[in-house]
Amino acid sequence: MPVDRVALPDALVIDLRQLVMTIASAVDLVGVDDVLHGRRVGLLARELAIATGLGEADQVMLYDAGLLHDCGVSSTRVHRRLVVDLEWEGAGEHCLRGAALLGDFQPLAHLAPIVRHHHTRWQFLLNDPELPPEVALHANLIHLADRIDVLAAPHHAENGVLAHVGRIRDRLAAESGRLFAPRLVDAFVALCEGEAFWLALQPDSVHLYQTEMEAFDDPRTIDWGGFRHCADILARIIDAKSSYTERHSRGVARLARHVAERMGLDPVTCEKIEVAGLLHDIGKLQVPDEIIEGTTALSDHEFDIMKGHSYGTRQVLRRLPAIDDIARWAAYHHETPDGRGYPYHLRGDALPLEARIINVADIFQALAQARPYREPLAPARVIAILEERAEAGRADATVVAAVAADLDACHRAALCAES
Ligand SMILES: [Fe+2]
Ligand SMILES: [Fe+2]
Ligand SMILES: [Fe+2]
Repeated sequence: MPVDRVALPDALVIDLRQLVMTIASAVDLVGVDDVLHGRRVGLLARELAIATGLGEADQVMLYDAGLLHDCGVSSTRVHRRLVVDLEWEGAGEHCLRGAALLGDFQPLAHLAPIVRHHHTRWQFLLNDPELPPEVALHANLIHLADRIDVLAAPHHAENGVLAHVGRIRDRLAAESGRLFAPRLVDAFVALCEGEAFWLALQPDSVHLYQTEMEAFDDPRTIDWGGFRHCADILARIIDAKSSYTERHSRGVARLARHVAERMGLDPVTCEKIEVAGLLHDIGKLQVPDEIIEGTTALSDHEFDIMKGHSYGTRQVLRRLPAIDDIARWAAYHHETPDGRGYPYHLRGDALPLEARIINVADIFQALAQARPYREPLAPARVIAILEERAEAGRADATVVAAVAADLDACHRAALCAES
């Protein structure tokens, strides 16, 4: 089977703005039905920054911080909980997790302290001798933007947010000096007077705002090494969804690369297959925890929701045309040689070998890992299931044979065990 022609990763250049938007649209999936929370908080943060008199560099930086502030939330249950009360005692964990993820990625590490404190009360930030005053102000600005969105979001559906402006304003203004910096609250109260501030939160306006910000002139770019590192961080976000999926994406990536090498694919393709493995389940961030962690067979409706996840992966990665091949391999991971996979029903030459490898690695890793309804399966059982699938046209026979020929090493790769 022909291997897709691919550009050398060495030549890859990704615009940092596109990458930030890609991470943001992945993280926003955790909202399930409302997938614009981060993007609305970004918009609100930038408007608050402008109204507070902060400079242009801070405005853009705070837009990014708003987009990514909840990158430590992978669970749909936690996401739902964060939008119930103005303050929730369990909010601290996602701040720490988000700060650790961003702190580990140099191009976005400057956002880590802001994300770390985006649920900390202003009265505590003020008295923290370790925290530079501008970081305290920026973190508190995200906190305020986030809470504005939480109070306003329920009213966007019926297009009725304007009827609630007075109540939202008074509720937040009452926290001046305690939860929020008085300077920020004053800027917010002034913004409340314009209907445009609230109408900008409608989905169409949020998307347009995002498009404008995406086009914002920014010379920063990411090379292959940076992108690979970012893919690893996205995999950590995806796998943090449930204890049952811990290390799943990284295991699929490692196994897919191992199999690709065993099958003699060239080093560049092997490298790209590994990254496709890291990214294949981005769309799962939108699947409710209850479906991922269910102990009984999925209902038809639940299965329909599940089927959307690989398409979701494709949609998120559409923003990065430079990695279109990787995005397709990732999004085709539930396609099968008989054309009965989903969601594209590809078969024959239309289904690339790279995607077939990720498909087999995905099934292998899932079977080798515990699920709520069963223990991990032993390697012999895993390969027996894969061979049955290959015989029925539900998995690529050549790929399964390559796995069978090197079963123990494949098992170690799938579980990310040191070899
Ligand atoms: Fe948050
Ligand atoms: Fe939030
Ligand atoms: Fe998967």
